[in-house]
Amino acid sequence: MSSITQPIGGHADVAGGHEHHPSGIMRWITTTNHKDIGTMYLWFSFTMFIVGGVFALTIRSELFEPGMQIVTPERFNQLITLHGLVMIFGALMPGAVGFANWMIPLQIGAPDMAFARMNNLSFWLLPPAAIMLLLGLFVPGGAPETGWTLYPPLSIQQGMGMDLTIFAIHIMGASSIMGSINIITTILNLRAPGMTLMKMPLFCWSWLITAYLLIAVMPVLAGAVTMLLTDRHFGTSFFNAAGGGDPVLFQHVFWFFGHPEVYIIILPAFGLISEVIPTFSRKPLFGYASMVYALCAIAILSFLVWAHHMFTVGLPAAGILFYMYATMMIAVPTGVKVFNWLATMWRGSITLEAPMLFALGFLFLFTTGGFTGLIVAIQPIDVQFQDTYYVVAHFHYVMVAGTLFAFFAATYYWLPKWTGHMYNETVAKWHFWGSFIFFNVAFFPMHFLGLAGMPRRIPDYAQQFTNWNQVSTVGAFGFGLSQLIFLYAVVSCIRGGKPAPAKPWDGATSLEWTLPSPAPYHSFPTPPVVQ
Ligand code: CU
Repeated sequence: MSSITQPIGGHADVAGGHEHHPSGIMRWITTTNHKDIGTMYLWFSFTMFIVGGVFALTIRSELFEPGMQIVTPERFNQLITLHGLVMIFGALMPGAVGFANWMIPLQIGAPDMAFARMNNLSFWLLPPAAIMLLLGLFVPGGAPETGWTLYPPLSIQQGMGMDLTIFAIHIMGASSIMGSINIITTILNLRAPGMTLMKMPLFCWSWLITAYLLIAVMPVLAGAVTMLLTDRHFGTSFFNAAGGGDPVLFQHVFWFFGHPEVYIIILPAFGLISEVIPTFSRKPLFGYASMVYALCAIAILSFLVWAHHMFTVGLPAAGILFYMYATMMIAVPTGVKVFNWLATMWRGSITLEAPMLFALGFLFLFTTGGFTGLIVAIQPIDVQFQDTYYVVAHFHYVMVAGTLFAFFAATYYWLPKWTGHMYNETVAKWHFWGSFIFFNVAFFPMHFLGLAGMPRRIPDYAQQFTNWNQVSTVGAFGFGLSQLIFLYAVVSCIRGGKPAPAKPWDGATSLEWTLPSPAPYHSFPTPPVVQ
């Protein structure tokens, strides 16, 4: 008899032995449960967010005044590199996989992820990869000073920290690919009867598409860094002009990965926002089908725009025009999504609990980042803005106020489901307002600095940039401290608090929790909840 037929919590005395349930640390190391693994992904993501945040605050401290005060120029460059790699591969991507693990099986009615043991392996590859990445700081020569893009020829000249980084990227890529195979297989094969693809919650759709993107581009990144490795140690000249190679080739290969990577980071956030806004508007999501098609359109277009990161390398005019207009076209499906979210809220019974506040913060600030993206997509302007703080401001509006705010919204939205307790709404609102205000204090001035010509990734600057840099540094510390409020809110919710009712958001509709959006049309207006 298979142990799978045993009732949950019962003693599974299967023929040939007694089933063993490990406890303590062994439970977490050996778990194949999607919720456990989701929890580990989320805590890993938060830990990396703190590590990358400490790097960012060190950078901001150095930039508080012109001249060198805190770190050496070499260390500054290393922190720039690691801040990027840690935030992208350690915080944002694993965070999204954490939500996927927790919610996709619940949302489609699957018993677990399709490959439960591979799921365990996907997670447990990450901590050693992160350690290897950070180890770069402690080896001779330190971590790469190239920035997260690892451009040659500098990346070929760097010390062994570069090799550690390449190895770490390989391992994290393997983890992502396994995670993606798991998500695609789960969604395609393990949906409950009646859960057709076009009835799936939008979050599942966003991850299905993201997983395909990951499988398409992670091997490309692996190829790029492997070519770097062989150029460094095995005598090839892929990127070495002296041997007949071309450093610009690396940029093409890297950004063929790197631009879809941006959408890998933002699409799951779109999915999360599409769950939160309908619930707190007490209305079904507006334009479900168009939301799905917009996701697909963004994913396809994301493969056609990579050279907008290379507008200054001397592309032919026809190439510049193609990449410029293709990039601008992404604003169309993205606009469809933003207007659908607005239409979802239109005449809804909106309440402003923390998840909805973060979703609205996302909407305002992500859209700002989208607009500045349109601006830097214009090649003649980009020639001026390339490598200035304007670009730094642009992508932090997309990554932080976009993806990170969506993660906060989703965390508060599902915490009662995950823990059985309500979080403290007052504390969560402090977290939101701290994050929202200080995010803008930290990053909005970077637009001005960039417009005035301040270069990015440089530890020193001319006197006239001092004032806005000081404002930005104050904002960065405020933003960092606000995240301690988040930690407090989450930990106190796990340890206790008001028991969560069946429908904590007063939805009284099928919009809540795990049921498919869009909900039936009779779900509005909201009847009172009887607990
Ligand atoms: Cu791009």
